[in-house]
Amino acid sequence: MPTESPEPAVSSSAPTRRTFVTTSTAVGGVVVAGGVIGGSAVLVGSGDAAAPAPAPSSRVSLTVNGTRRTVTVDNRTSLLDLLREHFGLTGSKKGCDAGACGACTVLVDGRRVNSCLTLAVRLEGAEVTTIEGLADGDELHPLQQAFIDEDAFQCGYCTPGQIMSGVGCVQEGHTGSPEEIREWMSGNICRCGCYVNIVRAVQRTARRK
Ligand code: FES
Ligand code: FES
Repeated sequence: MPTESPEPAVSSSAPTRRTFVTTSTAVGGVVVAGGVIGGSAVLVGSGDAAAPAPAPSSRVSLTVNGTRRTVTVDNRTSLLDLLREHFGLTGSKKGCDAGACGACTVLVDGRRVNSCLTLAVRLEGAEVTTIEGLADGDELHPLQQAFIDEDAFQCGYCTPGQIMSGVGCVQEGHTGSPEEIREWMSGNICRCGCYVNIVRAVQRTARRK
């Protein structure tokens, strides 16, 4: 039959478990008064503790899809977040938020950029075009139509970025061959693997042009 092992012998001056707990509790009370709770330092009592400084912000004016916009934003705001969170233009997608997938591609002054890597406050006076600004009223941009005609998407998540990048690719004239299109569209990832049809759509639009 198992028996309880005997308590190890302790000297009369060594703390027992009971005295340790009692002492710790008492010390804890003192330390709380001095600003420590459960091991974490806190600011107490002084009343003049510094509040966290507000994040630096700036005012910026830019034109988005033909409309002039002026906002004050946290200096760390990306163009992608400005478009999606402040302007409600959610066509540009956030895939990686790190410049690796191209889902956020927009045109800035005619050049394609990853909007997730572009600071909004650096765009004073810039002209931004997003997927929402491509169509002319009810008439789709030729590349939007070509994506439909060539069945160049499945889930569609990458599609706004692919189309904006394709518009840039056509404008830049990098459409001499399927290989050239692939090279100049290589920053736009499609997890559904629609590359063959995407290249066809860009080719079709370039021929039209
Ligand atoms: Fe910008 Fe992926 S979200 S590159
Ligand atoms: Fe699904 Fe490109 S269509 S990721």
